[in-house]
Amino acid sequence: MSTQRTQVAIIGGGPSGMLLAQLLDRQGIDSVVLERRSRAHVLGRIRAGVLERGMRALMEEAGVAQRMRTEGLTHSGVLLGHGDQRFRIDLEELTGHRVTVYGQTELTRDLYDARGARGGAVIHDVSDVTIGDIRSDAPEVTYHVDGQPHRLACDFIAGCDGFHGVSRHAIPEASRQEFEKTYPFAWLGLLSDTPPVDAELLYTSSARGFALCSMRSAARSRYYLQCPVTERAQDWSDSAFWEELAHRLPADMARNLVTGPSIEKSVAPLRSFVCEPMQWGNLFLCGDAAHIVPPTGAKGLNTAASDVRYLYDGLRQFYKTGDRGGLDGYSAKALARVWKVERFSWWFSSLMHHFPDQSEFDQRMQMAEFEFLRSNRAAQEALALNYVGLPY
Ligand code: APR
Ligand code: PHB
Repeated sequence: MSTQRTQVAIIGGGPSGMLLAQLLDRQGIDSVVLERRSRAHVLGRIRAGVLERGMRALMEEAGVAQRMRTEGLTHSGVLLGHGDQRFRIDLEELTGHRVTVYGQTELTRDLYDARGARGGAVIHDVSDVTIGDIRSDAPEVTYHVDGQPHRLACDFIAGCDGFHGVSRHAIPEASRQEFEKTYPFAWLGLLSDTPPVDAELLYTSSARGFALCSMRSAARSRYYLQCPVTERAQDWSDSAFWEELAHRLPADMARNLVTGPSIEKSVAPLRSFVCEPMQWGNLFLCGDAAHIVPPTGAKGLNTAASDVRYLYDGLRQFYKTGDRGGLDGYSAKALARVWKVERFSWWFSSLMHHFPDQSEFDQRMQMAEFEFLRSNRAAQEALALNYVGLPY
């Protein structure tokens, strides 16, 4: 078995792992990224695309913000609809901040390009990843590539391997507490090279269910429809999708909807999930490996970003001064923000979706909540503060 050594072993080459690797590299801290899938597979994933100010700042600090700056769309507001009612939340007027619409696919590509340019190690198609000795000063990761066993000795392990990864399970079950809520519906997503139906995002709840109108550029749109959890993308023709979307939009917007062939269609379940703690010895969980939010608030990537910020700061402090303070306090600090984001994502999902078992009273509560939001500045400010990104 070949043995390699690095300072930080990063399991997972998604946005969390690649952003951490890039930040560490700029501080001269060595890392190796182990990724289960091919680069093409990772970069073929379609994910959300709204970046908070904290994520933008991290991309700048990582030196990978060039394309985000030139191709990202800056939005100062967001639209909320309920039936034919629609109003705009002025994010910038309420918070002084805006959001950037820039696909996660592009952001991940920027990180891969930067890693390649710096000659940083990303080992693809790894299998049988195991994590060992995480409570010692010499933790290690073993894995296979092309059937050959390898060992990676390191100082620290960053578990950036997503919800279905192995890192979380390296924390003893008796010491791990998991919190989960599954939602009785899913999102059917469609990507198309058609102009967006509006200049800003629209989250809308109609009698037929939730819909989201988003975008990737002025020529590429991303739409979502609430659907049953059993739905399959292949059961939806493009025309059926467009027809249902038009039914769920306010009439004037439905008239402006430009349809076209789908580039991608997929169904994603909605889940809230948190693992406590987010660290164990010298293993630190980041992003989806530790927590999941329903996509309603576009917080998945943005909460991975705050985890990366905290872990990067702790590692930088350690390698500069030997002080483990930031690392020892990582889990508590990350979870404090994670739970606030879980709350917002759960609240926004509960407001905007139809629940199969909801009573008429529940429906009246949704309508009252929506009317309060429409008519109350303080309520809109609370939503705006969460949407642009809570402070780190
Ligand atoms: N070994 C190596 N790599 C693994 C393993 C494993 N055992 N298991 C999973 N991976 C890889 C996956 O192939 C994926 O590329 O880890 C990566 C995890 O990436 P993400 O799931 O994207 O999670 P994260 O980087 O935390 O980014 C969070 O991505 O999925 C979205 O909604 C999510 O926007 C959020 C963001
Ligand atoms: C997206 O553009 O894919 C997107 C935008 C906002 C969300 C979720 C997804 O809340």
